[in-house]
Amino acid sequence: MAWEIEERYFERREIKAALDFARAGGIAVHRNFDNYAGTRSPRGMRMDRPFLHVIGLRPRLEQWGRGHGLRPEWIQPEKRRGVAHYDVFGEFAQRLIDRLQRREEVRRHFALFLARFESPLYGQLAQGIVADPTILDLAGRAPRGQPPANLLFGAVHYLLLKGLGHPLAAYYPSVNTSVLRGEPYPAFREFCAEHEGRILDLLATRRVQTNDVARSAVLLPGFSVVAARAERPLALVEIGASAGLNLLFDRYSYDYGNGNVCGDPESKVRIECSVRSELVPPLEMPRVAWRLGIDLKPVDIRDTDQALWLRALVWPDQPWRSELLLAAIRLAQANRSEIIQGDALEVLPRAAAIAPVDAALCIFSSYTVYQFSPEQQDRLAAVLEGIAATRDLYRLSFEWHPGEESYLELASFEGGRREDLRLASAHDHGRWLKWLDPARVLPGP
Ligand SMILES: C[S@@+](CC[C@H](N)C(=O)[O-])C[C@H]1O[C@@H](n2cnc3c(N)ncnc32)[C@H](O)[C@@H]1O
Repeated sequence: MAWEIEERYFERREIKAALDFARAGGIAVHRNFDNYAGTRSPRGMRMDRPFLHVIGLRPRLEQWGRGHGLRPEWIQPEKRRGVAHYDVFGEFAQRLIDRLQRREEVRRHFALFLARFESPLYGQLAQGIVADPTILDLAGRAPRGQPPANLLFGAVHYLLLKGLGHPLAAYYPSVNTSVLRGEPYPAFREFCAEHEGRILDLLATRRVQTNDVARSAVLLPGFSVVAARAERPLALVEIGASAGLNLLFDRYSYDYGNGNVCGDPESKVRIECSVRSELVPPLEMPRVAWRLGIDLKPVDIRDTDQALWLRALVWPDQPWRSELLLAAIRLAQANRSEIIQGDALEVLPRAAAIAPVDAALCIFSSYTVYQFSPEQQDRLAAVLEGIAATRDLYRLSFEWHPGEESYLELASFEGGRREDLRLASAHDHGRWLKWLDPARVLPGP
């Protein structure tokens, strides 16, 4: 892997930003008018859509052109304030746009880590990655629909947890107890270069399936609301169950602060979640009559390699999360839930048809629907409405909307009527929640 010249794609209206970027030493790929289409270039080639100017300082542009099989004499002179350009068009131009747009998408995803996620190590690494086209392109090889930052971080962490010896390990508290301080990015970059093949293989074959047990602390008050409304035990179906750990939420113990505790006090899975609102959520533990998970690729926690992948998806500097995960894995190994392999869009109607009729059917998901395309999200809504036409249904979701707060939401379909409630806002990994629904709170003493 070689350090590359920074390239960036600019839309037609962004000409000023494109020129500034090129003058500062970058290669600006600027979309031009498509009305050149069909005409001939000065070299006599037919120019097809899209039509781009690749703009840069001449030496930079020559270097870029050499890397792309373009000759220096094809460069158009510096008409505009010190920068020259190549005219490029057709398939070559489209491939360039696709590559750079993907890079931007990936860059934005890593930038989310900087803005939102609380891992100092991944924050430091993300800072290096957002400015590094080589690593952005590597992460961009993640399948569409998968979060590239989580997948690349997961792949590297997995290889280190497997014992691959490298100086990078010294920065990972999950693999090394005496952690090295300082700048981990050069070692990360070197690791990616040395193990590019293994990383690409993991990006192609593994999925972001983080099974975050503490999300149960956010889901539990939602289940409690459903059971109180329906006055019946629950028939649970989880969309995107991963290893099914949140299906076992009633086997865990919870501490919400200020003496608000619930669940099984003997449980080895002890979840702390602080309530950051005046309103205290309802914490009555519902009875579960039946439970079923659905996942495209269920994680079998009896398989040590799959369990290791789950661990690898937890940030290396958040030991409390991996401890919780390990405790929940041990519990689940002795209390397995049924998880059907398949696309929830296909499986849900069948799952609803076999759920006991005397229980309240609650279809829930956490951090899953963001992996659906907009078209799949519409189909999911239609599938749920189809089920709601046959029986009462409670749809509980705690979902990620990148760049926004995450909410716990309930859509109740009772007797053919739909009601939507926003119950809480909460931390991605269940560290805290704010209860928002004054009509449904912990009963007073
Ligand atoms: C990020 S994980 C979240 C797991 C779990 N719900 C949690 O919050 O800990 C998302 C899961 O959804 C699954 N998934 C994605 N699309 C799916 C689909 N169309 N049908 C079923 N499962 C799906 C993935 O395989 C993955 O295991």
